[in-house]
Amino acid sequence: MENFEFCSPTKIIFGRGMESRVGAETKKYANKVLLHYSGGSIKKSGLYEKVTQSLREAGVEFVELGGVQPNPRLSLVREGIALCREHKLEMVLAVGGGSVIDSAKAIALGVPYSGDVWDFFANRAVPAEALPKGVVLTIPAAGSEASKSAVITNEDGWYKWGLNVELNRPQFAIMNPELTFTLPPYQTACGAVDIMAHIMERYFTNVTDVDLTDRLCEGALKSMIRNTLIAIKEPDNYAARAEMMWAGTLAHNDLLGTGRIGDWAAHMIEQEISAIYDVAHGAGLAVVFPAWMKYTFKRNLNTFIKFAVRVWDVDYDFDQPERTAWEGIRRLEDFYRQIGMPVTLAELGVPDDRLEEMARKAMKPWLTSVGAVSQFTSEDILEVLKLAR
Ligand code: NZQ
Ligand code: ZN
Repeated sequence: MENFEFCSPTKIIFGRGMESRVGAETKKYANKVLLHYSGGSIKKSGLYEKVTQSLREAGVEFVELGGVQPNPRLSLVREGIALCREHKLEMVLAVGGGSVIDSAKAIALGVPYSGDVWDFFANRAVPAEALPKGVVLTIPAAGSEASKSAVITNEDGWYKWGLNVELNRPQFAIMNPELTFTLPPYQTACGAVDIMAHIMERYFTNVTDVDLTDRLCEGALKSMIRNTLIAIKEPDNYAARAEMMWAGTLAHNDLLGTGRIGDWAAHMIEQEISAIYDVAHGAGLAVVFPAWMKYTFKRNLNTFIKFAVRVWDVDYDFDQPERTAWEGIRRLEDFYRQIGMPVTLAELGVPDDRLEEMARKAMKPWLTSVGAVSQFTSEDILEVLKLAR
């Protein structure tokens, strides 16, 4: 096990009806806030009314900024920063999914900074302060409600880059599984793929003697497989939605990665796909993750065998252990298909004429390699993308 620091300061307020507490919780940090959302689902579901009523009851003034799109854009972040400065807002309240939360995180970093917020994402500056952030989560997926990451798309060149700093962690996250009943099966599945990917990015490691977190990861994956199948068939099954929602947070608040060195190559490759083609992050991962596994499993065969045997109940093949690992990858792909996810670039609707550009862009200017199980060059990334066709 590696040495580690673990700090997950986000206060989680979980369960039925908990969104009614948003006003009182926000009031602990601010009197005037930016209310940030996309505009679609929260208005249809009535959540917008509940949140604004709770803010009014608590005496919290708010200025609104809707319009966040999946793969949130830098231009809206800049608009949010300007609004916060103009109205002297003290906090950003995100009501929505990972895209809204990430946009809120970027706004919160940009307000006290004298330069352009993109400097942080482009590795040109390190943030020193941020406004506080609160979250009302509507989709279990990105784990942004308690993570240190924010991922923003710069329309100038279509760069989708992430920033990992402790300052990004929200002060609180309100999570009512009932708010996820309205998720269509496709978004439920995209979220499940992302949650499982966050676990697997940490699970596939070259670090040894990490038995506790191995088993926590395996348990979380098994629970996700079971509950995703239920939630897709029964969208208003509270128990299944609740398991998924909590799994989404635990998958990405770093608990499952303690003492390990995660890989993250699949995520970095997927970001290039969603940057250019604006596909859902989870759907992109359903395509990239199996391809990454096929390309890399021989470099860490033991862990891939462990994954097959313990997560997918594959019989160990004593004559040809590689077949055991392969069967684990096949069952993951089958599961993705079963929940309606694409497993090839073609099924995702992504043509194969810009693979080299994506492979080149995945190797950010400040990186010498991508991934930890095997250090990928852009040539390796291109091979993964070709396997994903
Ligand atoms: O915009 P609305 O109308 O709300 O529709 C959204 C959107 O179309 C819909 N949705 C959300 N809650 C709903 C709902 N529809 C019905 N009922 C509800 N309750 O779902 C769609 C996707 O929303 P989005 O916020 O984009 O999803 P997600 O949470 O998957 O976030 C994806 C973004 O997060 C980034 C991704 O790259 C992507 O940009 N990530 C952020 C991470 C982080 N900050 O830690 C880590 C992840 O690896 C990921 O990269
Ligand atoms: Zn992800």
